[in-house]
Amino acid sequence: MSEKRSSFTGKVGFVLAAAGSAVGLGNIWRFPYLAAQYGGGIFLLVYLILTLTFGFSLMAAEIAIGRKTGQSPIGAFTTLGKKYSVVGYIGALIPALILPYYSVIGGWVLKYMVGFVTGEGAAMASDTFFGGYISSRSEPVAWFVVFITITAFIVILGVDKGIEKVSKVMMPLLIALIIFIAVYTICTMDGAVEGVKYYLLPDFSKFSFKTVVAAMGQLFYSLSIAMGIMITFGSYMKKDISIEKSIHQIEIFDTGVAFLAGLMIIPAVYAFSGIEGMNSGPGLMFITLPKIFETMPGGGVIGVVFFIMVFFAALTSSISLMETVVSVFQDRFKMDRIKATLTVLVVSVVLGLISVFGYSIWSDFTLFKMQMLDFFDFLTNSLMMPICALGTSLIVGYFIKPKTLIEELEIGGKFKSKHLFTVMIKFIVPICIVLILLSSFGVIKI
Ligand code: TRP
Repeated sequence: MSEKRSSFTGKVGFVLAAAGSAVGLGNIWRFPYLAAQYGGGIFLLVYLILTLTFGFSLMAAEIAIGRKTGQSPIGAFTTLGKKYSVVGYIGALIPALILPYYSVIGGWVLKYMVGFVTGEGAAMASDTFFGGYISSRSEPVAWFVVFITITAFIVILGVDKGIEKVSKVMMPLLIALIIFIAVYTICTMDGAVEGVKYYLLPDFSKFSFKTVVAAMGQLFYSLSIAMGIMITFGSYMKKDISIEKSIHQIEIFDTGVAFLAGLMIIPAVYAFSGIEGMNSGPGLMFITLPKIFETMPGGGVIGVVFFIMVFFAALTSSISLMETVVSVFQDRFKMDRIKATLTVLVVSVVLGLISVFGYSIWSDFTLFKMQMLDFFDFLTNSLMMPICALGTSLIVGYFIKPKTLIEELEIGGKFKSKHLFTVMIKFIVPICIVLILLSSFGVIKI
């Protein structure tokens, strides 16, 4: 961020920018498959509780740090104390690891968008299409490279404001379409109501510690927290805006979209493949949606429109992911913008190819029993983000003290959740995350 620090024009500007970065594939692709996989209603319940407690407190801490120091993550943590800069560095590395595999999924979206345009929709509805596609040698590579190159072009040309404008129109339409698809599925398909029950009614016997780990990783990912991004956002925020209110709005928006996406996908999976379908993993959206479109009158056109909108939602997020990484390269290695973007592009293509090949030519190779894309996803969401959140909560809780940030949080209006914030940051966040990390590493079994 070497240019002059501009600020968001008003309250709406901040919330929209933060929501634009938050709403993306995480809501539409990742949330539904995790909810399906981890027991439906119980996952939803755990997720909601974590949003209001963990999500709220961490986002408040990050935005307040950003607004107080007026810097992006590495600089902000260094300002708080030189020894804390390591948390900033871990945070900065996370988007760099997410961007490549995010773009691989972006490539899948592009493929499906073009597929519906060229009338391949019916073929895509078959059970084996998705598996056959991702295990093919060259096509997924091409779509991934196209997606990430478009992202890089926009970052270099600096036309992201234009894209943002388009996606501000697209986003409400996307939400309307998601609601329409959900209602259509539930009303017309046998068995879909069972799926709604699976999704909405928590079955406590399905609760396990893994549910919490998965829900927490998803929460960080979806709200774009625990990686320093919100520090940068906070640094652009004006002092007279209430951070607390803004967070509530972002959370309602982000969680609302994720909830609806689940309602669109999970009942349909139930109707098509019953409970066994729930374990489909990352491919779930791409397996289920073409089937729904196939059953709808005019489904071919709806498929085209739907994937165009998802493409824009994914693109705004991938642009802001790449922007973040590029600005770190610019600051740290004193590169100019074009050089930094091209470097990030090349590194991301190499890393992304590992994920792509993990499904095709290297499918025999797994790390900790995971395919490569799953591995990168696990590494960032289940390990690095919890570490970053732990670092942030310890630094705020015990070194700079919650009081310092509460002062900042009170500037733009009353901070009602003061006590929740203090208790979460000092005790609950660190204790839960340590337990989670220990269980992820297999040290303890919970
Ligand atoms: N929150 C985004 C989504 O739901 C993904 C994401 C994670 C992201 N980290 C980010 C987007 C950083 C922009 C910046 O799809």
